Amino acid sequence: MSKKRVLSGMQPSGKLHIGNLVGALQNWVKLQDEYECYYFIADWHALTSQYADTSQIKDNIKDVLVNWLSAGIDPEKSTIFIQSHVPEHAELHLLLSMITPLGWLERVPSYKEKQEEVKDIDLHTYGFLGYPLLQSADILIYKAHYVPVGIDQMPHLEITREICRRFNFLYGNVFSEPEGLLAEFPKVPGIDGRKMSKTYNNCIYLSDSPEEVEQKIKTMMTDPKRVRRTDIGDPELSPVFHLHKIFSSKEDQGEVADGCRTAKIGCLDCKKILLKNLFKVLNPIWEKRKRYLERPHLLEEILQAGAKKTKKIASGTLIDVSNAMKLWLGNT
Ligand code: TRP
Repeated sequence: MSKKRVLSGMQPSGKLHIGNLVGALQNWVKLQDEYECYYFIADWHALTSQYADTSQIKDNIKDVLVNWLSAGIDPEKSTIFIQSHVPEHAELHLLLSMITPLGWLERVPSYKEKQEEVKDIDLHTYGFLGYPLLQSADILIYKAHYVPVGIDQMPHLEITREICRRFNFLYGNVFSEPEGLLAEFPKVPGIDGRKMSKTYNNCIYLSDSPEEVEQKIKTMMTDPKRVRRTDIGDPELSPVFHLHKIFSSKEDQGEVADGCRTAKIGCLDCKKILLKNLFKVLNPIWEKRKRYLERPHLLEEILQAGAKKTKKIASGTLIDVSNAMKLWLGNT
């Protein structure tokens, strides 16, 4: 029996941090053994908001790719590619745009929210409105069964399913309805205690050096009520402890929680234990990053192989779509 297909993508909008690692990447790595996985870098999606300054996109693509590989996305198991290497996504996007009511796109919550939130970029563009539809094309063109995404992306999956039903209703059954795969992820706090996010500038990046990580953890916020070393603290109020919950063993967690409540250990001691555990996770990633960064040809080969494989599937789907829509393919 053939494996079910999983597809997901990420925008190359900046460096990846340890929140992305435990939030998405580690889940993608797990899925590789059970499913036929396709992971791609959505560079056209990045253009929907970063169209005025495209100078970082190429570097960001490379950084995302190197991080994926270093975190354990295995090109022997998964197909890795760049969206713009498979122009069939754009062709399907165009065809789907013909049957997509504007109201469906205007109703997607991220549309208005981001327009209001982002003040320095004009997002009243055709491309930005079409963001979820481009995402639908990404998913439907591979007839993916499952799409692992965060909760913020669920509305995009919902519109994908609606488009799928509308297409099948108008032209016959070509697409199968994809399902979102929502995994439970621990919330990763940033060094200021808020959610780890590029916008807050509170991230620990996979590309940070050990010294940078050490510096960031040392300045990290702890229980604000524990002012002196002799004060007792509440670990639950300390974002450092929340990182322990993600990266440390149960024994270490017990030890630091107890030490904090009784003032047996100070915040610096607690942070040292966290650093030791964080390095255990990051060291192998850093080693692999170094090796991949030294081998640009290998990266190129991985992307070319990915594009070749996905182009075959994508162009096959476009033939099905053209037949269903009774379009002239040049051979009839
Ligand atoms: N919109 C997704 C994000 O920002 C990225 C993305 C683009 C995607 N196309 C996709 C995710 C298709 C899953 C499937 O995270």
